Amino acid sequence: MKRVNVGIIGCGLMGNMHAMSVMNCIDEGVFAGRADVKLLAIADSDEKTLAQRADLYEVPVRTADGHELCEAEDVDVVYVCTPTKFHAEFVVDAARHGKHVFVEKPLGTIPQIEEMIAARDAGKVNCQVGLVLRYDPLYWYVGRLVAEKAGEFGPMQNVIFRDDQTYPYTGTGTHPSTWRADKDLAYHGTLFEHSIHDLDQLVRICGDVGSLAASVRCFNDKPGIEDSATVLLNFKNGASGSLTSVWYAADRDSRRGELYFKNAVVELVPGMLGIGSLHYKVLSEPDVKVGQGEIQAAFLGTVFKGMKVPPSHAYFYETVAFLRSVVHGTPPPTPLEDALAVHELIEACYEASQGKKVVSI
Ligand SMILES: NC(=O)c1ccc[n+]([C@@H]2O[C@H](COP(=O)([O-])OP(=O)(O)OC[C@H]3O[C@@H](n4cnc5c(N)ncnc54)[C@H](O)[C@@H]3O)[C@@H](O)[C@H]2O)c1
Repeated sequence: MKRVNVGIIGCGLMGNMHAMSVMNCIDEGVFAGRADVKLLAIADSDEKTLAQRADLYEVPVRTADGHELCEAEDVDVVYVCTPTKFHAEFVVDAARHGKHVFVEKPLGTIPQIEEMIAARDAGKVNCQVGLVLRYDPLYWYVGRLVAEKAGEFGPMQNVIFRDDQTYPYTGTGTHPSTWRADKDLAYHGTLFEHSIHDLDQLVRICGDVGSLAASVRCFNDKPGIEDSATVLLNFKNGASGSLTSVWYAADRDSRRGELYFKNAVVELVPGMLGIGSLHYKVLSEPDVKVGQGEIQAAFLGTVFKGMKVPPSHAYFYETVAFLRSVVHGTPPPTPLEDALAVHELIEACYEASQGKKVVSI
């Protein structure tokens, strides 16, 4: 039986989400008979958060210092869920000590990502990035639908993605912390912090980007933390598209996507806590609404074929996929290189906006 002792560095919103997902894997016996999964350690620089989470999950090893967790001999897997600035130092340290790593997005600067890749390779460990929409059954289903019905739909012409979210740095509501307002900790705003997911999905569904133009603006009083971005994309398949990404004061957290083909249109409205709605229409055939049950069943039956994985949410599925790669000794499904490619696109957006030019990718 393989030992999989998990440690989490930074146990705020996301660290707690991943702790719950690890506990669900244990409770549901997802790896029963193959691995002994335990949530063994938590590190958090905030004393209150550390005590609250460690007590909640009855975690025996607790420390304020994430590096102590990276060094602990009985920890096999480290989740890095701190503010962005600290991702690189913990990923590199954990990999250096032979731990498999799950790190939240965004990863950091391009040189920091390259440092993480080198440390992962030197440590010969698995390293997965939290591009969670890859484990959202709705987005996964859209990707499959577009690929499978390519002949019927005809050439892709245009795509519109919109992502608006209430300011995630007021210390209230869904986001109880404020570090996203600090450029030193967060590096950038909505495009980098939130729409990294949208750009990743745009590329996954529509293919590689050939060139882009962008307008990135800051309407708030947080220097360097953009709260409005429009990106115009030219895909290599000939389609064009746009992404609108906004942070604002309205209390809403919402995404929407429309994909136009020569013969068809696909519309997705993801739900705040999962699935949402998916419609498509081909020529003059009636509108097709794909049911939530069908989406969930197709996802589970394909992505976790042969495994006992209960219906749940994307964060849980993401942890199952990561731990499966650790347990089976296979490469992680969302490697650092995939996130590096999206980070390079985001950098190109900033370059295009500053230089008021079209950037070739
Ligand atoms: N994948 C997603 O959907 C998603 C959603 C939200 C956040 N995130 C990402 O997750 C990461 C964490 O965001 P969050 O919302 O959970 O933040 P958070 O503020 O809720 O939690 C961060 C925790 O890290 C702790 N911390 C800060 N510096 C530390 C250090 N040097 N060492 C140890 N602990 C430290 C804080 O005390 C806090 O408890 C960010 O990179 C964010 O972008 C991803």
